[in-house]
Amino acid sequence: NYYAILMAGGVGSRFWPVSTEAFPKQFHDMLGTGDTLIQKTFNRLAHLIPKENIFILTNERYNDLVFEQLPEVTKRQVVLEPAMRNTAPCILYASLKIQKENPNAVIIVAPSDHWIEDETAFSKNVQQAFSFCAKSDALMTLGITPTFPNTGYGYVEFDNASAEAIKSVNQFREKPDYQTAKSFIAQGNFLWNAGIFMWSVKSVVEAFKNNQPTLYTLFEKGIDAYNTDFEDDFIRDNYGKADNISVDYAIMEKSKNVFVIAAEFDWNDLGTWGSLYDKLNKDEAGNAVVNSRTLTQDASGNMIRTKNDKVVVVDGLQDYIIVDKDEVLLIYPKAKEQDIKKVLQKVKTNF
Ligand code: GDD
Ligand code: MG
Repeated sequence: NYYAILMAGGVGSRFWPVSTEAFPKQFHDMLGTGDTLIQKTFNRLAHLIPKENIFILTNERYNDLVFEQLPEVTKRQVVLEPAMRNTAPCILYASLKIQKENPNAVIIVAPSDHWIEDETAFSKNVQQAFSFCAKSDALMTLGITPTFPNTGYGYVEFDNASAEAIKSVNQFREKPDYQTAKSFIAQGNFLWNAGIFMWSVKSVVEAFKNNQPTLYTLFEKGIDAYNTDFEDDFIRDNYGKADNISVDYAIMEKSKNVFVIAAEFDWNDLGTWGSLYDKLNKDEAGNAVVNSRTLTQDASGNMIRTKNDKVVVVDGLQDYIIVDKDEVLLIYPKAKEQDIKKVLQKVKTNF
């Protein structure tokens, strides 16, 4: 009864110029392990879930990339979205499809671009959550111990009194402002939402029905078409009508039956060059260098990713991102990494 929804429709614009709209980060080997991020995620899930029960949701333009990188996947498992509508429509759509196939399904929803070191601990936590969700009406998330007031994450306040591994959640707050995030961390009983969710198909569909009735009605209309030859037509005509909203705002912030399990593994949302820098091996001066033909002097804390066919010299530079990719060369301070998204927009309008 175990299923997975693998979300792979994002663009990863803060990883520009490697990640682009035509070829986003989840389809790159960002870590230099030989596997792309989506391959790593698929394999991680395949330890827990029958491969044929792993559904992949992505934008239609990544169709070829998905089948190239995951050759064991069949067309039945891939939903191609004609429009980007964030995670709520993607999750509800996949859930209704799964529910039609198996009303007793228990589902894990996972982003395709996270770094998780200890896969055994990951499997253990997911197993615990699955057993809980199979028996209770619960919306579960994996929680990460926060290290700083990151305003790009969701926060979950858990019930301090509980001694159980799975704790009930008093409040779920998506992307609070800096002051609020700071106060959450000071309080102590807050975790970051890892963006990895677990629930029975019944619970998640119910949550959408109650909190997003318009979206629910839109997709429920197509139920006869799901898993048939008519499904492609239904998606093409209706998917774009969905509200653009993330699952965090759509159901997690609004529901009372939210639970959290604290992750026992190291986790990193590979969202920026700095987060990748944190995970890569560094030289003595703290430079993460991907190309072995790189010479550094009086340079530290840099993230340097260039192709192996080029000799690169970096001197006198601290805490920079240097990425060389075909027709783009990026030299950018690490401290401003969040602004790469904006810079990319500027580049697009200017050149
Ligand atoms: N299929 C599909 N379609 N996938 C999508 C879409 C879409 O329209 N939009 C985003 N995704 C995928 C992304 O590729 C990513 O893997 C995942 O869904 C999450 O989207 P993000 O855009 O990266 O979300 P976020 O980082 O702002 O916030 C979420 O993740 C944080 C942890 O990394 C939230 O759940 C936060 O609460 C959480 O802390
Ligand atoms: Mg993210």
